[in-house]
Amino acid sequence: MARVFVSCVLPGDAVDRLAREHDVVVGKERVGVGSDAFVRDAATFDAIVSLFNDPIDSALLDRAPRLRLVANFAVGYDNVDVSACAARGIVVTNTPGVLTEATADLAFGLLLSTARRITEGDRLVRRGIFQGLTPSFLVGAPVHGTTLALVGLGRIGQAMARRARGFGMRVIYTSRTRAPLDVERSLGVTAVEMDESFARADFVSLHCPLTPETRHLVNAARLAGMKPGAILVNTTRGAVVDEAALAMALAQGPIGGAGLDVYEDEPRVHPALLGLENVVLAPHIGSADRPTREAMARIAVDNVLAVLAGRAALNPVVVARG
Ligand code: NAP
Ligand code: GLV
Repeated sequence: MARVFVSCVLPGDAVDRLAREHDVVVGKERVGVGSDAFVRDAATFDAIVSLFNDPIDSALLDRAPRLRLVANFAVGYDNVDVSACAARGIVVTNTPGVLTEATADLAFGLLLSTARRITEGDRLVRRGIFQGLTPSFLVGAPVHGTTLALVGLGRIGQAMARRARGFGMRVIYTSRTRAPLDVERSLGVTAVEMDESFARADFVSLHCPLTPETRHLVNAARLAGMKPGAILVNTTRGAVVDEAALAMALAQGPIGGAGLDVYEDEPRVHPALLGLENVVLAPHIGSADRPTREAMARIAVDNVLAVLAGRAALNPVVVARG
């Protein structure tokens, strides 16, 4: 029987399944690897089910010499020092695929809410400011017939493209690797160089992972190069955007709005964003529908069970050598 630390209570019965085979400790009083339950017993754990905001770095790994597996409850794994894990022979896994549609739903919801000022309208109605329809009240930006630029055409980027096509949008994209022609054709998307795509788009939606290369990919210069009135949607990771520069561009132009699910220093949100009406702020809920979250828990646990039983990980992002 191995010892497994699970960062917090997970939806569904996956952790019960894990507990039937292993000694499981769930971070309860404070979630994550900062919880007393982890800090006190770090040296005893063979595996961790981590959250996207648990920093799995060398300092933590040094305190956990028995660790064989980090199963990240997320598809993004920018919180994990994968080289440090690989050097110690620790497998790292993630939860790809099962959250693709849910996250694209949320991204498209942010696009619609920002363009059509839905959450701004909700605030006005609650304050009793709605006095009946007038032709210029809360007029927003059109969605159908406009151009959406995607940064990253992986699983979620492609799901976003499918939604956009259903809304009669033109879709252009930029990615590290160009998609195969048959994928471009079936999605009806066109590859465009990054700066040109920012200049042409009415909406830019970010779907690349956070890496050293993509940190602050959307900076003051890129924001200045966007079309006047254009809208930025970010459901990937906060640090892909320079949040201070974004707040400035939202207040002073050229951009018209932003729909955000993620922040540079979560759960803190840049104070300048909080005072702006033209930004929709969601609390990192991209994958937050019940079946998706239960599927993520199942995948994380299946990876733990496989690796602890000496089998290959199902969703490895780092394969331990030797
Ligand atoms: P994915 O299938 O791996 O897609 C990522 C895409 O980004 C790939 O096509 C990749 O291209 C591309 N890319 C990498 N570096 C790039 C760069 N420098 N410039 C442009 N494109 C680049 O991943 P996914 O499943 O779609 O997930 C994407 C991200 O969404 C995750 O990493 C995570 O941060 C975020 N996410 C957030 C939530 C939420 O709750 N808000 C939920 C799920 C996921 P290559 O093929 O060349 O690598
Ligand atoms: C959530 O943010 C994920 O990467 O799954």
